[in-house]
Amino acid sequence: MRIAFIGDIIGRPGRSIIKENLQAIKKEHKIDFVIANYENASHGFGLTAKNAAELFNTGIDVMTGGNHTWDKKEIHGMFDKYELLRPHNYPQEVSGTGCKVYEVEGEKLAVLNLMGHYAMPMADNPFRCASKTIEDLETEGIKNIFIDMHAEATAEKRGLLMMFKKRVSAIVGTHTHVATDDLQIDEGTGYLSDIGLTGCRDNVIGMDAKVPIQRFMTGLPGRFEVPDKCKAVLQIVIFDIVEGKCINAFKIKKFNDGREFVTQAWID
Ligand SMILES: [Fe+2]
Repeated sequence: MRIAFIGDIIGRPGRSIIKENLQAIKKEHKIDFVIANYENASHGFGLTAKNAAELFNTGIDVMTGGNHTWDKKEIHGMFDKYELLRPHNYPQEVSGTGCKVYEVEGEKLAVLNLMGHYAMPMADNPFRCASKTIEDLETEGIKNIFIDMHAEATAEKRGLLMMFKKRVSAIVGTHTHVATDDLQIDEGTGYLSDIGLTGCRDNVIGMDAKVPIQRFMTGLPGRFEVPDKCKAVLQIVIFDIVEGKCINAFKIKKFNDGREFVTQAWID
């Protein structure tokens, strides 16, 4: 199967560039299943029902979350209506789930969403949660496993790779909004520390630079805003998975001026 992942979609510029390009990318690259991270999709904070419907209409199959999952209160009622996940290491009594199994090309694909520990809200241990969940999936005979590790620290993302390579198909990091240059396949596991944002590629992590600079210069609080107009980028990583193993991976960066950059994964 060929699956694709889009990282943190930031506000309208992120949603628009997906709307403008995703169908064509899916067709050109024969993508079977698309996963995307929604946690900043509605004006940079959380996800509204209206924007969820809009994003699923572009051809996304399931969306993952993170620390901003809860920013729009209506999310609690949306897990039953849409294919939305939240980090699996939130306690069980919290609404939603962070792991679901989908049928893709006649095979089962598990999508697992985790949230890191460093500089993140209180939640259960993501590594212990991953260990238990992956074990359960293996017991069920599920070989194709994709993980979105929503974390600040690259070390936590690398740690997850070292713990679970060979056993999961792909691990991609989200949350920092800044892409890392380490797309690789390590013993059958596709890996990228952070895919980077889909939204404004100028400004500061997808947000208007004015407030962050004011915060840096004065220490005073201010609310981040998504710019109305900007230079946008769509970042999508594509994995070919056979019998649970990643055999090929590449990343496309598509700019809203039409330019496109492709990076191929190295294989170890
Ligand atoms: Fe986040």
